[in-house]
Amino acid sequence: MAAEPTPAKKTGVDPSPPAPGSTPIPTASPNAFASPVFRPGLEGVPATHSSICDIDGLRGLLTYRGYPLEQLANQSSFLETTYLLIWGELPTIFQLRDFEQEVQMHRRVSFRIRDMMKCFPASGHPMDALQASAASLGLFYSRRALNDPQYVTEAVVRLIAKIPTMVAAFQLIRKGQDPIQPRDDLSYAANFLYMLTEREPDPLAARILDACLILHAEHSLNASTFSARVTASTLTDPYAVVASAVGTLAGPLHGGANEDVLDMLDQIGSEDQVEPWLDRAIASKQKIMGFGHREYKVKDPRAVILQRLAEDLFNRFGHDQMYDVARRLEAVAVDRLGPKGIYPNVDFYSGLVYRKLGIPRDLFTPIFAIARVAGWLAHWREQLGANRIYRPSQIYTGSSPRDWQPLEARAPIGAGAA
Ligand code: CMC
Repeated sequence: MAAEPTPAKKTGVDPSPPAPGSTPIPTASPNAFASPVFRPGLEGVPATHSSICDIDGLRGLLTYRGYPLEQLANQSSFLETTYLLIWGELPTIFQLRDFEQEVQMHRRVSFRIRDMMKCFPASGHPMDALQASAASLGLFYSRRALNDPQYVTEAVVRLIAKIPTMVAAFQLIRKGQDPIQPRDDLSYAANFLYMLTEREPDPLAARILDACLILHAEHSLNASTFSARVTASTLTDPYAVVASAVGTLAGPLHGGANEDVLDMLDQIGSEDQVEPWLDRAIASKQKIMGFGHREYKVKDPRAVILQRLAEDLFNRFGHDQMYDVARRLEAVAVDRLGPKGIYPNVDFYSGLVYRKLGIPRDLFTPIFAIARVAGWLAHWREQLGANRIYRPSQIYTGSSPRDWQPLEARAPIGAGAA
């Protein structure tokens, strides 16, 4: 039997050994329950140890398993990065080939799921369709022991393989068409574009989409990943883990912001309207979509890379006037909001890239989800490796104990005490 670690009572430091090369994280003092500190939004509160991703929000640096994001976006592929995130190391040539083949073999989804999707309202948001479809996978694949490595690998492969197929299927179904089957000769990103548009994609467009997937694949303990970890901590199945994370990603403060950015740029209309629009927005305390981040106090490194990818696309396929409005907005907003540490985040330029790729606006967040499944699954595995169910406390602000009253004895609401 392994020796129990020695509790570090006097220092208040977590007794579990930190991962090699990482900094030990101070944890709550033994008196935490006596005088709990409430931090809205859990800002600055560590909720796990993790070796998956590191953010330096002051210098604008992001690494996956120690590798700089810039290098991965330029040189890796989404499936290679997925392997790295989930299994911790870059794959060998054989491991990558096997993983790519496995994913390719599992891209198809059951006709039952496609038929179920045909019953969804065509006016429904694709994120809701994705959440329901992802959850439905749990109906098809039996729950087995979460410590069975075969089960874990199969679940990873299925989710990575099938989520893009389901996003593309809903897109065709809501247009009244039948979904088309994946093409085995196309790469992950190229096949997704093909299933969406029914056309063989341009290689540059496929490469840029693949890079976008790498950029969105992981980002430490953001809201949807936290959701995934909380759900995982109950030891439910991985399909429920991903479905809960999809629901969390959908909100406009998280993944949904990329859609809102284009709505905002539409509303501004032209470069000369940027300053008056921004002044009005700031005066009315409106949030500028695609700006600000809990972790970054400088420009999000993903926004830097996405802006470059957008320019590559414009150079090849023609300029987009909306990009001029966005750049002007960045210049003016950084001047006004930069002193508060508010700069463009990942969502600011991603919408412009997807728009140039011909992707409908309400599919921007589902594409974010396709990528982030990699990060959610990496956190699912990590959570299972050292699981304890998440069960934080609260500070109760309700009534003191009181007795139930019969209906006739109750004062009407708002009438005050009798
Ligand atoms: N525009 C204007 N002011 C802002 C913005 C913004 N986008 N973001 C933050 N602020 C201000 C905010 O008004 C507050 O000011 P004050 O202290 O004077 O009241 C201060 O900055 C702190 O804001 P907060 O909302 O408490 O910050 P947070 O860390 O809780 O929220 C955020 C982070 C990303 C939700 C927020 O910046 C925001 O709502 N941004 C717009 C939505 C957006 O772009 N979301 C995508 C986030 S990145 C991708 C992802 O995670 O999915």
